[in-house]
Amino acid sequence: MNKKITIAIDGPSGSGKSTVAKRLSKLLNILYLDTGAMYRATALKAISLGIDTLNEEKVSEFIDNIDLTIKYSEGVQHTFLDGKDVSDAIREPQVSMAASNISSLKCVRLKMVELQRKIAGQTSCVLDGRDIGSFVLPGADFKFYLTAAVSVRAERRYKELKEKGFNVDLQALQKEIEQRDYNDSHRDFAPLTQAKDAIYIDTSDLSIDEVTDKILSVIRG
Ligand code: DC
Repeated sequence: MNKKITIAIDGPSGSGKSTVAKRLSKLLNILYLDTGAMYRATALKAISLGIDTLNEEKVSEFIDNIDLTIKYSEGVQHTFLDGKDVSDAIREPQVSMAASNISSLKCVRLKMVELQRKIAGQTSCVLDGRDIGSFVLPGADFKFYLTAAVSVRAERRYKELKEKGFNVDLQALQKEIEQRDYNDSHRDFAPLTQAKDAIYIDTSDLSIDEVTDKILSVIRG
C-alpha cells in the first residue's frame, strides 16, 4: 500500500475485532493498534496505586503524566507502563472490568484518544476499539462494526482465556461481557457505537477468514 490509510474496527468484546485486525495488519503490511490495551494499562496503573477505577478525581491526578508507551517488535504490539512490558498482565481477567470502568472517565478517554490520534497520524494503520470510527478517527478511510451473539462472544473469550491457562467459568464470563457491553455502550462520553458510515458485520456464524475476506474485499474495492 503506498497511500496512507486508516481502518477503524469497532465492536463489543469477543466480536473478533482484534484477531481480524491483526490479520489485516499482516496482509496489508500496516500497523495494528489495539486501543483496548491502552485502557487496560491505565486500569492496571490505578490498581497498582490502589485507586478505585471509577474515582475520577483520583484518576485525574495521574492520567496526564501516565508513562504509557506502545512499541512494536516484529509487528507485534507491546504495551509498556512505567517502562515495564505489561502486555501479559493487562490480559488478566480482573483487568477487563477495571478497564471498562476506567474507560468511562472523560479525562482518561481524552488522554488515550490524544495518544491514539498521534500514532494513527504517523502511519497507515488498523485500529480496533469501541469509538474509533465514531470519535477517534471520524475521517478513517474504512470503518467496520463487528458484533456477534453474546453467547458466541462469551464462548470465544472462554476458549482464549483457557488457552492462556486462566481458570474461568463460562456463565460468569458471559455475565461479565454483558455488563461490559452495557457499561461501554451507556457511558456519557464517546460510548461504544456503530459509526453511521461503518459497515456492519455479524460474525456469529463466520470464520476469521470469512470476516477478513469480507473486509479485504471492501478495502481492495
Ligand atoms: O477491547 P478490550 O476488551 O481489550 O477493551 C477493554 C475495555 O476498554 C473495554 O471494555 C472498553 C474499553 N475500551 C474503550 O472504551 N474504547 C476503546 N477504543 C477500546 C477499549
